[in-house]
Amino acid sequence: MTLFDLHGDVALVTGAGSGIGQAIAIGLAEAGADIACFGHTSKGGLDETAQRITALGRKALVLTGTVTSEDDLAAAVERTESELGALTIAVNNAGIAGAEPAETLPLETWQKIYDVNVSGVFLSCQAEARTMLKRRKGSIINIASMSGSIVNRGLTQAHYNSSKAAVIHMSKSLAMEWADRGLRVNVVSPGYTLTPMNKRPEVADQVKIFERDTPMGRMAMPEEMVGPTVFLASRASSFVTGIDLIVDGGFVCW
Ligand SMILES: NC(=O)c1ccc[n+]([C@@H]2O[C@H](COP(=O)([O-])OP(=O)(O)OC[C@H]3O[C@@H](n4cnc5c(N)ncnc54)[C@H](O)[C@@H]3O)[C@@H](O)[C@H]2O)c1
Repeated sequence: MTLFDLHGDVALVTGAGSGIGQAIAIGLAEAGADIACFGHTSKGGLDETAQRITALGRKALVLTGTVTSEDDLAAAVERTESELGALTIAVNNAGIAGAEPAETLPLETWQKIYDVNVSGVFLSCQAEARTMLKRRKGSIINIASMSGSIVNRGLTQAHYNSSKAAVIHMSKSLAMEWADRGLRVNVVSPGYTLTPMNKRPEVADQVKIFERDTPMGRMAMPEEMVGPTVFLASRASSFVTGIDLIVDGGFVCW
């Protein structure tokens, strides 16, 4: 199906060393793209992601830094283009979560979530767009969450939920700024997903509740975020910009 073919594309994926970001980086490579894997440290996850990409016959580049640094992001884009070629796809997935009652939530914790989840996604888009706009070609996909549209029952995470709502509306705003300049910006919003964070024994009871509350009766596997992302990255979505593609097993319908 050539509509979904990504051969000749170069993608940058942030937070590519684990969970959803790792699955998406490998999935984009399966569709044919070469991948720059950006994250905190090359140890563990990022190297594993890169090895799995090269095993598929695609090129992989490991880039370390933080999405809160403009310099790290500018350097990442520059190295991606010099080593892999023109950047055409970006998946801004790096994010952090937390839960704390609003009335005792320290400003520092609030700020940290916003620094990574909101400013980090904005700075990533900015660094990527600076090069994509010059060629009038690119697809940016920001990973938000269904928590940007609904409030998760029983979870005290006003900071996280509102940060993801900001990602969704920021993405729509950027999509409109760049719509007539060849650059598309869309969102994938996962529902509860079985990443390492949700495999810890201490959250086993919480996971049962997540499964019960999801209409499809289970959590998503990280690989189930690949298809929606490949769709938004590829020619198959050439007239799609500014959407929030919610991938939640039906959760937000209830
Ligand atoms: N797991 C879920 O149920 C779920 C649901 C909805 C949305 N999400 C979102 O999906 C994304 C990925 O989540 P995940 O569950 O795979 O979590 P994860 O913790 O496995 O992955 C997040 C990755 O981002 C990286 N990262 C964090 N801060 C960074 C920074 N400042 N700079 C660079 N890299 C950084 C981490 O090192 C990690 O590799 C997040 O944005 C998260 O909010 C997850």
